[in-house]
Amino acid sequence: MASEPVNVNEFQELARLALPKMYYDFYSGGAEDQHTLKENVEAFRRITFRPRVLLDVSRIDLSTTVLGYKISAPIIIAPTAMHKLANPDGEVATARAAASCNTIMVLSFSSSCTIEEVAASCNAIRFYQLYVYKQRHIAATLVQRAERNGFKALVLTADTPRLGRREADIKNKMIAPQLKNLEGLFSTKVSSDTGSILEAFANQTMDASLSWKDVEWLKSITNLPILIKGVLTREDAIKAVEVGVAGIIVSNHGARQLDYSPATISVLEEVVHAVKGRVPILMDGGVRRGTDVFKAMALGAQAVLIGRPVIYGLAAKGEYGVKRVFEMLKDEFELTMALSGCPSVKHITRNHVRTERERL
Ligand code: FNR
Repeated sequence: MASEPVNVNEFQELARLALPKMYYDFYSGGAEDQHTLKENVEAFRRITFRPRVLLDVSRIDLSTTVLGYKISAPIIIAPTAMHKLANPDGEVATARAAASCNTIMVLSFSSSCTIEEVAASCNAIRFYQLYVYKQRHIAATLVQRAERNGFKALVLTADTPRLGRREADIKNKMIAPQLKNLEGLFSTKVSSDTGSILEAFANQTMDASLSWKDVEWLKSITNLPILIKGVLTREDAIKAVEVGVAGIIVSNHGARQLDYSPATISVLEEVVHAVKGRVPILMDGGVRRGTDVFKAMALGAQAVLIGRPVIYGLAAKGEYGVKRVFEMLKDEFELTMALSGCPSVKHITRNHVRTERERL
């Protein structure tokens, strides 16, 4: 592909050409049959628009706020592991792109640059994503480091008591993780005779006993607002509100955990109805077009997160690639707003979309 990519899917193709197969498979793959992986994208396609016309859309304002932070568009960077496998500058390049796009970056617990390196690299608004290992002191130390380094919120990923079965990683014998923040705290050396070293590592370290009461523990060790990532049901959404989280991220971990989980866009409304506006709701999974951003907003999300698109941009063209991916989605979203008659994100309503259920 000689010309500049014009959409996120073309960036994916460039990333495939740029990366060793093991890494491309790691980034792009999902769990088991990859049913949910396909559904995350397909479910967006089944939603259509109810566009309104003859409204003044000569000026479009895409900006919004998340936890009080103003961002240029309701698109933020999801936490994804080990960006140095995609580009030598790793998460520093991603953070710089986030800063220049004026959006939020959620740094993964499994990052390949340290909390300190990312903080020193730019002034992007940063949230920190947390996994909790059996050795609880590791989480406590990382939370303190995130606080000291100006991170504004914690994202507790709740859908990973164990790692989902990603068959490509097993076949490729996916390498041991390069978890920079854990250096000196914990040995990441592990071996596996049977396949994915990553899976063996995660399953030996993750605290599968983590439960709702541990959110209290987390609140006792930090003053940062806590978002829960990985909610897919009304029951868990209500639980999250009850334990006092600052926000909920509807997510199935990019279809990398429980295959046959529902597509996130298909359960967003269930969560929105259960929460009744008490906390903001974000979503991720399968966002590849500005039209997808609009659909998520119409169904009640305050913003979306993008995972793989960022990695594809990073792998294909480094910091510039991440910026381009963001700008493409932003431009597409702006056009969708104009063609739907919405001059600002506040104008996007439930009536602007029609779901499959409503067509029957
Ligand atoms: C992830 N995701 C993830 N989530 C998390 O909480 N901590 C992590 O370290 C990771 N790592 C990770 C690595 C890779 C390669 C992918 C693709 C995903 C999940 C991520 O935050 C997000 O939920 C999904 O990526 C969203 O789906 P899309 O945008 O990739 O379709």
